[in-house]
Amino acid sequence: MVTQKQVETIEAFRAMPEEFQGAIRKIVISHAVNELYGAQVFDEPAIALAPNPYAKWLTCRVAMEEYGHHVRFRDLGAELGIELKDMTPETKKPLSIFQFPLKTWTEFCVIKLLADLGEILQVEDLLECSFHPLRKLARMTMPEEKFHAEFGKEFCSELCQTKKGQRGVQDAIDQYFPMLPAFFGKPNSRNNEIFRKWGIKKRKNEEMRADYLVQAENVVKELGMQLPNLSST
Ligand SMILES: [Fe+2]
Ligand SMILES: [Fe+2]
Repeated sequence: MVTQKQVETIEAFRAMPEEFQGAIRKIVISHAVNELYGAQVFDEPAIALAPNPYAKWLTCRVAMEEYGHHVRFRDLGAELGIELKDMTPETKKPLSIFQFPLKTWTEFCVIKLLADLGEILQVEDLLECSFHPLRKLARMTMPEEKFHAEFGKEFCSELCQTKKGQRGVQDAIDQYFPMLPAFFGKPNSRNNEIFRKWGIKKRKNEEMRADYLVQAENVVKELGMQLPNLSST
């Protein structure tokens, strides 16, 4: 096994080849943009949708943490010489998973259940990243993403106490889940190859997606629900 060169500081980053620097910048920009956009279109609006003070309180915490993730990635990006405007959804197009038109509390709970599970896998892949400032950031972010997925699961199981609630959760899963496999990028991705070459990420997009599909199926089954069949998509 090749021992990957470790890049422990911002100074060491600046001395690295452009391919490494560009790869790190891409990841930081993507996280900064998508954490911000997700907070804007899902988490913050969900505070108004939450049905009671307890749910609102926890949703505020989720929204605060998602904005916080943006701030963390943005601050690292600034240290890497990325301009602030390049880390906003106005400049860089956010992921398609955020195009879902959120309207209900049930939909939000399903988004946290399924999209944040996907985010856990993405962050997990950076926990051993060869660029230590990014690794550190991933390690700080991970417990919060786990909390978001758990939040989704707990509120979904609460909704599933009634027949009507079960239908709502299943309906939201059917509508939202088909958007999620794209979250993991294209197979045989050139970017991903570069990330793995430099020890920035560990897994191929297709490996991460396969892992996600198994985990999503398990969590949905635990709720007594089903994933829609994606074979036609
Ligand atoms: Fe996040
Ligand atoms: Fe999250």
